[in-house]
Parts: sequence; C-alpha cells; structure tokens
Amino acid sequence: MKVKFAPLNTPLKRRLQTAAVFQWVLTFLLLAEVCIGIIVMLIIYNYWYIYIPYLIWLYFDWNTPEQGGRRFSWVQSWTVWRYFQDYFPIHLIKTQDLDPGHNYIFGFHPHGIFVPGAFGNFCTSYSDFKKLFPGFTPFLHVISFWFQCPFFREYLMSIGIVSVSKKSITHVLSKNGGGNISVIVLGGAKESLEAYPGKFSLFIRHHKGFVKLALIHGASLVPVFSFGENELLKQMNNPEGSWLRTAQDTVYKLTGLALPLIYARGVFQYSFGFMPYRKPIHTVVGRPIPVQQTPHPTPEQIDKLHQTYVEELKKLFDEHKGKYGISEDKVLVFK
Ligand SMILES: *[C@@H]1O[C@H](CO)[C@@H](O)[C@H](O)[C@H]1NC(C)=O
Repeated sequence: MKVKFAPLNTPLKRRLQTAAVFQWVLTFLLLAEVCIGIIVMLIIYNYWYIYIPYLIWLYFDWNTPEQGGRRFSWVQSWTVWRYFQDYFPIHLIKTQDLDPGHNYIFGFHPHGIFVPGAFGNFCTSYSDFKKLFPGFTPFLHVISFWFQCPFFREYLMSIGIVSVSKKSITHVLSKNGGGNISVIVLGGAKESLEAYPGKFSLFIRHHKGFVKLALIHGASLVPVFSFGENELLKQMNNPEGSWLRTAQDTVYKLTGLALPLIYARGVFQYSFGFMPYRKPIHTVVGRPIPVQQTPHPTPEQIDKLHQTYVEELKKLFDEHKGKYGISEDKVLVFK
C-alpha cells in the first residue's frame, strides 16, 4: 500500500481545521469511554471528595437531558467550531421562511457515520442558522444512552444536545409560544450501517413516533436532507445477510450502538484512518408540512401524515440533488 502524505507546506489554517475535526472524531469515538474510565479510577483510588459530590449532583440532575438540557453559548462559540465548520465546509440552505410563533420538528437525513452536518449546523454558533431562522432555538436530540455517561453528558448538554426520548421531545415542543426546533436524525444510528458513498438508504418506514409527537403538539414537520453526509467516509461492505452485518445488527439490537467498520484518511496522510474526507456538506431545509394539533391521533392519521412526510422528503431530494452532483437516476431508498 502506498501512503499519500499531506504536503509539508499545508497552510496553518488548514492544519487547524484538520485538528478541529480530529478532536471532534476522537470525542465521538472515545470521550464517553474515557469519562467512564475517569469515574472508575476516582472510585478505585478513593477520591471520594470528588466522586461523591459528583454522584449527588448526578442524582439531582438526572432528568435535565429530558428537560431542555443546559446549553452554554460560550461553549457553542468556541473558535474550534469555526475551524470544524470550514474543514468540510458545512453549508445550511433554506427553502422557505419559518414562523417563530410555531414549533417545528426537523427530520434530518441521512445519518451518515458521524453526522457532522447536524452538529455543525445546529449546535455551534458558526453556522448560518441564526441568520436564516431568526427567533429559533434548535435542539439536537441523540439517544438517551449517552446521558447516562458521567461527565460526557455535561459536555453534550453544554453544546445544546438533549435526549431523544418522548419526554424530552415533548418538553421542547409542548408549550405555546413557539421558537423551538427539535432536530431528530430519524434513521437512527442503524442507518450508519447503510452509509456508503453514492448510496441513499433511509430507515424511515417503521419510524413513526416523530409523526405522533408532531400531531400531539401541532408541530410542523420539516424534512431536512444533508447532501454529502454519506460521502465523508468509506466502510467495509456489509450487505444485509452477510455475517458481518448479522453481527452488527445483533450488537445494535443488544446495545443500541451501531459499529460500522469505517476507513478514510488520517491526520497527516490521505491513505487510511478515521478522519472524514474534506468534502462539502450542504444541509437543505425543506418546506414545512403544516400539522393540525390532534391530542389523540389515530393510527390512520399517523400513517397518512407519515406518508406525506416521506413524499415531501423524496421531493426535496429530487429537487436539489442535481445541484450537488448527484445524477438524475439516483433515488432515495426507504427501508
Ligand atoms: C422551548 O424549549 C425549552 C426547553 O425545553 C422549554 O423550556 C420551553 O418551554 C420551550 N418553548 C416552547 C414554546 O415550547
């Protein structure tokens, strides 16, 4: 194998961008484990004056991830996020104005591997979000599992991330007044097992909980397609039915964690590693689907709205794919 190294004269700005993405990938892959290691060490070496107060804090703070979280704008505006944004770079595109007197659910697709588009656009201060959607606060919802992890949960919440549980989404969408947006990566982590460059498989057919919540709270549904998300890394071929995929699906069923076997580039070379490629991400926010508040939706009402959502998502993809280098014959595959 021939290794292709990054040129030595790479400008400082690009090096900083690479560093910003590198630390973020490490956070994604390792920080939760490191945090668990730290708490275990504190207990083993009996630093009780650190871990006892923290565990007491944890006890009283346990539900915060389901109650809007705890964001700190200074964390969201760390300079590192500007470099992160510019590495790919990440762009946010609006197709229609939204009314800050309402609440919305953004259905984000596809999951890809690391979902930098969702993070960059909705968690940091360096995206065009505030400019394009004035008067709104975005809440990125992720699986509750991460909030059971000591210390790591504080970091997630500080940057505006909350749990994806029903209670948590309800907390964001249930009050009158509007101005909240629940951003949900609807395919879930499992979709990352289908994240191949040039492929567009979405797990949505059996995911209907978000439609029910939209009806209950009268929150409009907005399909969001992030072009480029699946192009950032490669992964070992794992078609459904292969032993690898069966193993991955079993791990997913038992733990809720998807483990795609990914490869892309490294920090100082372009031939192997877990670093995503420098490829642009264009996150297109579609037209809102108005939803009539229905406190007790019937299965038929849920199915009907779900179908409308899937059609709007398909339209969004077809209308915009040409601009982002996707050929006419490529279509979304719903699973
Ligand atoms: C917006 O979300 C926050 C945090 O969950 C919540 O406290 C507030 O009531 C919500 N506002 C509306 C209008 O739903």
